Amino acid sequence: MIKIHIISIFPEAFESYFSSSIIWRAIKNWLMDPVFYKLGDFSDKKFKHVDDNAYGMHGQVISPEPLSWALEWIFSQLWHRVPVVYLTPGWELLQQEKIENYYDTLWWEFIIICWHYEWIDQRIIDLYVTHEVSIWEYVLSSWELSAMVFIDSLVRNIPGVLWNKDSLEEDSFSKKFDRQKEYPVYTRPREFMWLEVPEVLFSGNHKKIEEWKKNNLK
Ligand SMILES: C[S@@+](CC[C@H](N)C(=O)[O-])C[C@H]1O[C@@H](n2cnc3c(N)ncnc32)[C@H](O)[C@@H]1O
Repeated sequence: MIKIHIISIFPEAFESYFSSSIIWRAIKNWLMDPVFYKLGDFSDKKFKHVDDNAYGMHGQVISPEPLSWALEWIFSQLWHRVPVVYLTPGWELLQQEKIENYYDTLWWEFIIICWHYEWIDQRIIDLYVTHEVSIWEYVLSSWELSAMVFIDSLVRNIPGVLWNKDSLEEDSFSKKFDRQKEYPVYTRPREFMWLEVPEVLFSGNHKKIEEWKKNNLK
């Protein structure tokens, strides 16, 4: 089971995604355990503010204190430190091969920290962050989306999460297909408009079908 501690300003943003389909099944079957922490609960400010003005520039920054208190509180509950993931544009780009290896360095229990404004105070990164991950080279306005992408990509690789383990082995970027994109797939009807399903897929010859798949990677 993978345990993910999620520190967020808006934990409710995860609700609909975590309560449907594959992620929901992973939670229900004890393959994934998400634990939420509302960052505002760790603020000592009057209106539970967690941000402040940036020094030397315009924009809002998550203050170091609430984040640090939240992280230290989780560490104290666990009696030890765990890896801390921070989603950010740029830096290390998320790729299938890396995702398959994250389990070794994330120890099956880690924290994801959320920032929703322009930045997070650099000292939090220096003091706590062990993994900086980007879901690619573009900028989203919220952290929760990138965190959900990261979590989904990680969790679907846990044995038992997907019903059909073949689909994992033969997904795009899988080891089996030299990290290329997967082959075309068809279902009934055999002929649609003027396009026919390739003959070989009806042959029942697994060797030939495997060959066809390899030759038709996109
Ligand atoms: C408006 S963005 C902040 C952008 C930041 N000022 C910059 O230029 O790098 C708000 C949040 O969305 C998340 N985010 C946006 N794009 C992302 C990406 N490509 N990968 C991972 N996280 C991203 C980050 O967590 C960020 O805190």
